[in-house]
Amino acid sequence: MSLVYLNGEFIPPDQAKVSVFDRGFIFGDGVYEVIPVFGGRMFRLPHHLARLEASLAAIQLRNPHTVRQWNDIFTRLLANNGTADQSVYLQITRGVAARDHAFPPNISPTVFAYASPLNYPPAEQLAKGAAAITAADNRWQRCDIKSIALLANVLLRQQAIEQGAAEAVLVRDGLMTEGAASNIFIVSGDRVITPPKGPYILPGITRDLVVEIAHFHDIDCVEQPVPIGSLRSANEVWMTSSTKEILPITRIDGRPVGDGKQGPMHVRVFALYQQYKQAFIRGEVE
Ligand code: PDD
Repeated sequence: MSLVYLNGEFIPPDQAKVSVFDRGFIFGDGVYEVIPVFGGRMFRLPHHLARLEASLAAIQLRNPHTVRQWNDIFTRLLANNGTADQSVYLQITRGVAARDHAFPPNISPTVFAYASPLNYPPAEQLAKGAAAITAADNRWQRCDIKSIALLANVLLRQQAIEQGAAEAVLVRDGLMTEGAASNIFIVSGDRVITPPKGPYILPGITRDLVVEIAHFHDIDCVEQPVPIGSLRSANEVWMTSSTKEILPITRIDGRPVGDGKQGPMHVRVFALYQQYKQAFIRGEVE
């Protein structure tokens, strides 16, 4: 792996060391971002940095870097990695201090970032789609913060894997929220629906772009609550994330979604999304 960034230094991964008293390690006291990179360009960087800013504000941590400094760090991490798809992971914790739940005064945050190759699902997998389970959303009430404390998400995703599925679609009070590590869309008739933003979902950057692209192309797309019954009767279900893009979910809890194959609305929206991405790589859109 190429160099990683840790607290101002670019160093080989095996030399990057963090104290055992780091509050990220002790409490999961930190936030993160995952930014996809296409053709050497960071996709929707301003959106990711705005969400980072919101996550930091929510946990009362000052952003340690300006937009320009972040840009410089990421650019240097990506410098020798060519044009293949990649992702940048970045994590900020509150820093190192003797263990005490309350914020310690005067500590500096720990800042870590690295780039790694990004492999999207191949065309065969898109056509086939993925399986999902439904599970009770037992996370906290601030799922809008991109927190590194992901134990509930980890357990939910693991539960899906152990049942032969790729994702857990979460349900709270009879309404679908999101996936363990993705946002969820359903298609009902000709209408594309995803739950509105709020404390129970992460405001996904891919989600927002899918909504934006759908609106731009006059596709009927709304942000409204999705009762579990609507999920069960949907013609199509998709999961979206920076690392999976838009992936059809073709089986839920062992039953087919629609006819159990990638649906026509997915084909259409996925193609529009890829067009947008190509225009971004060519520098025609930001
Ligand atoms: N996760 N919801 C949750 C709980 C997520 O963890 C993610 C992404 C998303 C989608 O957000 P975006 O489109 O901005 O990637 C929604 C990342 C990829 C991860 O944890 O690796």
